[in-house]
Amino acid sequence: MSAVIVVHGGVKAKLDERDHASVDGVKAAACDGFAVLKRGGSPLDAVEAAVKAMEDNSVFNAGHGAVLNAEGEVEMDALIMDGKTLSSGAVSSVKGIANPVSLARLVMEKTDHMILTSRGANQFAESLGMTTVPTDSLVTEYERKKWKNTRTYVSELSEEYNTQWAHDTVGAVAVDSVGNVACATSTGGIRCKMAGRVGDAPIIGCGGYADNFSGAVSCSGHGESILKVTLARLILLHVEQGKSVAESSQLALQYMADRVHGAGGCVVVSPSGQWAATFTTKRMVWAAVDHDGLWYGLDPNERFSEQLTV
Ligand code: GLY
Repeated sequence: MSAVIVVHGGVKAKLDERDHASVDGVKAAACDGFAVLKRGGSPLDAVEAAVKAMEDNSVFNAGHGAVLNAEGEVEMDALIMDGKTLSSGAVSSVKGIANPVSLARLVMEKTDHMILTSRGANQFAESLGMTTVPTDSLVTEYERKKWKNTRTYVSELSEEYNTQWAHDTVGAVAVDSVGNVACATSTGGIRCKMAGRVGDAPIIGCGGYADNFSGAVSCSGHGESILKVTLARLILLHVEQGKSVAESSQLALQYMADRVHGAGGCVVVSPSGQWAATFTTKRMVWAAVDHDGLWYGLDPNERFSEQLTV
């Protein structure tokens, strides 16, 4: 079996001036992650590399490019999980960290805990010598303008919410040639959220999950809805019941829409290398690399392909 990686750069509501850059960004991130697998790296290494590439790309709402909260601060959430051991690490409401996904991995590998939050997460980063960067260096001009023009948080799951608000959470799932899977998710959350608000991204079973017995998932979309239905685990429950990863994603996302009026998207891989990129929002930017090459899309039912350059 050939290794596979699938990444998303978040669900989107409408056309915007950053579409081209975000498609290029997910393609580059998928290629970076696949290159790790090709060199013999683990799926965990691959998803970390892919998510770091998107955290470093200011077009996405994660790391550099993260959105501002109600106080004009950047607070970020991230998760990483290894399907072989079910080990995971996460950080929430962390500030001044360029690559929250790498800090999440260090929580997994160097502590007895699974989630560190806020000041404790930052103290842990400092104790390991991880550089804290000034908030300003994470915030783009684009985000400053958007924040100034918004300043209020839309709390209702109205049509306006689902069509006007983008959540460019990033994430990746990967499987190696012997069926080990991993996932990672990273986000700045939702613009103008309350200080201290934690979304789905760092919560296992919600923003992501990985289990060699069923597959790996990374989610994007309205965090409070994803939390209510534990979206990542719900998708894998359908997989465990024998459905394909594509059908499982559709069923779980439709359940979230019907039950709590929430919209979102996900990328999924199975231990046998099946994969899917599925969404109930207007759009989701995604890319995948498998034995047939590089695949990508943004609008519903879009699946472009290119020769692999890695
Ligand atoms: N799905 C990202 C968030 O709601 O924070």
